[in-house]
Amino acid sequence: MCGIVGYVGKKISIQDSLIKNLKTLEYRGYDSAGVAYVCDNKVEIIKKSGKISNLEEAIDDNLTSNMGIAHTRWATHGDATDINSHPHKVGCVTIVHNGIIENYLELKDLLIKKGYNFLSSTDTEVACAYLDYLKKDIDNNLEVIKEFQKGIKGSYALGIIFDDELDTLYATKCDSPLIIGLSKHENLIASDVSAIVNFTKKYVIVNNLEIIKLTKDKVEFYNSDLEIINKKIEEVNWSIEAHDKCGYEHYMLKEIHEEAEVLRNTLNDYIDVNAFLKNMPDFSKYKKIHIVACGSAMHAGLVGKYIIESDSEIEVNVEVASEYRYKKVFYDKDTLVILISQSGETADTIASLRKAKEDGIDTLGIVNVVSSTIAREVDTVLYIKAGVEVAVATTKAYLLQVAMLMLINLKLKYDKKLINKDELSSSLDMFKKAPNYLQELLNNEDTYFKLASILYQDEDIFFIGRGIDYAICMEGSLKLKEISYIHSEAYQAGELKHGTISLISNNTKVIAVMTDKDVYLKTISNIKEVKARGAYVILITIDSIKEELEFADEVIVVKDINKYLTPMLAIIPLQLISYKVAYLRNCDIDKPKNLAKSVTVE
Ligand code: AGP
Ligand code: GLU
Repeated sequence: MCGIVGYVGKKISIQDSLIKNLKTLEYRGYDSAGVAYVCDNKVEIIKKSGKISNLEEAIDDNLTSNMGIAHTRWATHGDATDINSHPHKVGCVTIVHNGIIENYLELKDLLIKKGYNFLSSTDTEVACAYLDYLKKDIDNNLEVIKEFQKGIKGSYALGIIFDDELDTLYATKCDSPLIIGLSKHENLIASDVSAIVNFTKKYVIVNNLEIIKLTKDKVEFYNSDLEIINKKIEEVNWSIEAHDKCGYEHYMLKEIHEEAEVLRNTLNDYIDVNAFLKNMPDFSKYKKIHIVACGSAMHAGLVGKYIIESDSEIEVNVEVASEYRYKKVFYDKDTLVILISQSGETADTIASLRKAKEDGIDTLGIVNVVSSTIAREVDTVLYIKAGVEVAVATTKAYLLQVAMLMLINLKLKYDKKLINKDELSSSLDMFKKAPNYLQELLNNEDTYFKLASILYQDEDIFFIGRGIDYAICMEGSLKLKEISYIHSEAYQAGELKHGTISLISNNTKVIAVMTDKDVYLKTISNIKEVKARGAYVILITIDSIKEELEFADEVIVVKDINKYLTPMLAIIPLQLISYKVAYLRNCDIDKPKNLAKSVTVE
């Protein structure tokens, strides 16, 4: 996701004006970091691969400037090297960028024909060169940025310095986050408010295509027609020590609320059918899939199993890594072993990977942490790019693991010639709507928080569902128990009557998930069975199921866009309810007892 900051104001140390602010954004990515600052009437750049601490060591504490921009990178185009780090300077323009320039290749071809050479393999350098190219015919820098917006496709939050205005910082955005910090004689830009709170609590949220011109004493906001606009000034209302949670009380809630943005960022690489075919591996030779993982990653694998088996007609075995690594495994040359891991460092999953490789079986990793052990050792890796996930209970990474499996399913279907390129493209089009629908659910937080007040004093809570809904229940149950310490279990709805239903009595809480249209009538019967024994039922279903639902005590409805998106939508209420239940029980939500973010031991 990466983080950007910028400062214009008094002549102060770069450590104070840029590096301190940048460090609050390290959770957004830490492949490399860099600063560009004005000194002796020109722009100087220092940039280093690795964490911000590497950059910090390279900058003299006495180095001062009145203006600069800085960046901590989560690479999307080009490895985490010094040369690919931001800021990038081309000609008379210097920028830092958060986002993905989708049409960078066609722009790069155009600019090479105009005589530009490129040092890095990033899309950002192309964007910088494009600004320089436009500057050759346009004197006014606001006009340059306006023209830039017309020629660019993709997402960006940009900090821009033009050599002919070294007392003025420009900024603009499209789909990536950007805020402006306002203070007396100094003003700032940043990816989120945590990066400005040590200067000011006054900030403005930038909307898409707005252009901002900042000097030390003045900030002007323009719309894309370069008309001056007035913006609402917000006030940071939380303590500075919470800054790295961006105002949220816990990382977990912050990371849940990042889900729409990170999903949009990750889907950027696959939404266009040609990019999809370029970025997805070839699966045509595989006839069987083993998905091996632990915990929530395994639950994501279960969701993938139901979709892949029904859609791509390929057998999928989902295995717990701690079992897989020791058991007799039946696979052959046309088997693909998929390892799912947020951290890429889970010992049992690494051991399972090495077992498959020793047996000469192809391996694919679905991983979040770049260059982690699993990412380095699999034959092919697909990064979910969720950004740093601090809370031990995974939320955004799980969501993107599910999303990646849905995309893999589409590639399997295409490679098996079950769909053609046009059908693939229209399926991918459906994914475009996912982040917005997901954001609608996130905006519904208070509705789900109210349901938590019904649950938080219980000591046993059951989740029931059939088919893919059972897989969703598995993750919902784990999310609840691992942070609230309430005993919870997920059960195939049809299996309950074979024993466990003896535990259902008056007011026992049951959360039922009913989104699978092939079996929902059966799920209704199972819900009525627990209701008949006094259970209190919270039902999560989709708006295309038109049955009377009065048998449930509470009903949460999510939009039925298509079967690939439903599992990503249905988990949002469960994540938010789990968070609020743990909150009401005064649990240590980000660091639950006995748990670790990455289980690097057996
Ligand atoms: C998720 O909320 C848990 N903290 C845990 O189950 C986790 O999913 C599991 O340990 C796997 O971790 P990994 O994805 O880093 O391999
Ligand atoms: N696409 C840019 C790069 O790869 C920025 C990445 C980001 O926003 O994290 O350098």
